[in-house]
Amino acid sequence: MVDEFLPFSRPWIDKEEIDEVINCLESGWITTGPRVKQFEQALSEYLDSPHALTLSSATAGLHLALEALDLAPGDEVITTPLTFVATINTIVLAGGRPVFVDIDAGTRNMDIERLAAAIGPRTRAIIPVHFAGLPVDLDPLYALAQKNDIRVIEDAAHAIGTEYKGRRIGAFGDTQVFSFHPNKNMTTAEGGCVTTRDDQLARRISLLRFHGIDREAWNRFGKSGSQQYAVIAPGYKYNMMDIQAALGIHQLERLDAFIDRRRDLAQRYQAELGEIAELALPTLPAYAHRHAWHLYCVLINVDEAGMTRDEFIEAMKSQNVGTGLHYQAVHLHPYYQENFGFSSGDFPIAEDVGERIVSLPLFPRMQDHDVDRTINAIKNVFRRT
Ligand SMILES: Cc1ncc(COP(=O)(O)O)c(C=O)c1O
Repeated sequence: MVDEFLPFSRPWIDKEEIDEVINCLESGWITTGPRVKQFEQALSEYLDSPHALTLSSATAGLHLALEALDLAPGDEVITTPLTFVATINTIVLAGGRPVFVDIDAGTRNMDIERLAAAIGPRTRAIIPVHFAGLPVDLDPLYALAQKNDIRVIEDAAHAIGTEYKGRRIGAFGDTQVFSFHPNKNMTTAEGGCVTTRDDQLARRISLLRFHGIDREAWNRFGKSGSQQYAVIAPGYKYNMMDIQAALGIHQLERLDAFIDRRRDLAQRYQAELGEIAELALPTLPAYAHRHAWHLYCVLINVDEAGMTRDEFIEAMKSQNVGTGLHYQAVHLHPYYQENFGFSSGDFPIAEDVGERIVSLPLFPRMQDHDVDRTINAIKNVFRRT
């Protein structure tokens, strides 16, 4: 019997979510409403943040958090080249110029030692990305940001449930953006959320996420009537729907159990792949942290393996095991080379990692025998069995 294809990720949607979605559909209120409110309250509590603003995606969250900075032409935003393109696309959409800091090859996070050199007179914000759910070293990063009066927008798309030195990402610092895309640690199908301790920023995002409509302003100007509103800025249509929040309410209740299961699976990979010379495994920093294990990524040691990462992906596919690619170095995409002058060699560590990285199957419903299958497939691919 041939094994079924093992995907690299799969959401775990249970009966509670399904019933809640059905109840929502039957309630007659399917767009932004009471379930979004309930979900935002639960997020605000879980993340210990005064403002948790849900959105249609994390991309929308990054866009609005950046747009709220009112960047002027030539203003710079520093980030990592090893991220999803949304991180840098939104910098450009908000009028900024992306500046990159190379990564640490082991943790794959921005190398904080290189950060100070990237800060200049036009730097307005830093976007650290908690790659795969491993927290960036935030203490020195925030120290630099404060010293230079720069905003920090943490791209926490991978990092709901991540902790840095005993504190949950979202519970301290400036601004964070989470994703609830289906392959993330919890999902609302598509969706995202911004947390911030800045009341003004929260208000701006809350306006911009729905057409710039301010119902309070209308009331302040002395008019009443529930159908009345005032537009005080040209906004977007980035709101989350109740149908999505119906999923999120119950996913959030199970998030910690999902992460615990991900950690157990990742620990098996760490323990059992260590002897395979064709692979380089992720390394963990010395500071205290809780890794959310959104991804488990290895690097192909191309010389030992006698194959490229892309050949490895194809070979795993022929063993019926799916993999993911997170990520090619973003500065090498044609748009960024052509419009910002980036080229090969600019950020050599991210480029090397981007050519060799591959994500192995990792999702909470994965069984122990699926880990065995993946490890056996890897050994077969490298002709180790
Ligand atoms: C690092 C990072 N940032 C931003 C995003 C965008 O998230 P979303 O798909 O919710 O817009 C993603 C999604 O994969 C991501 O991985």
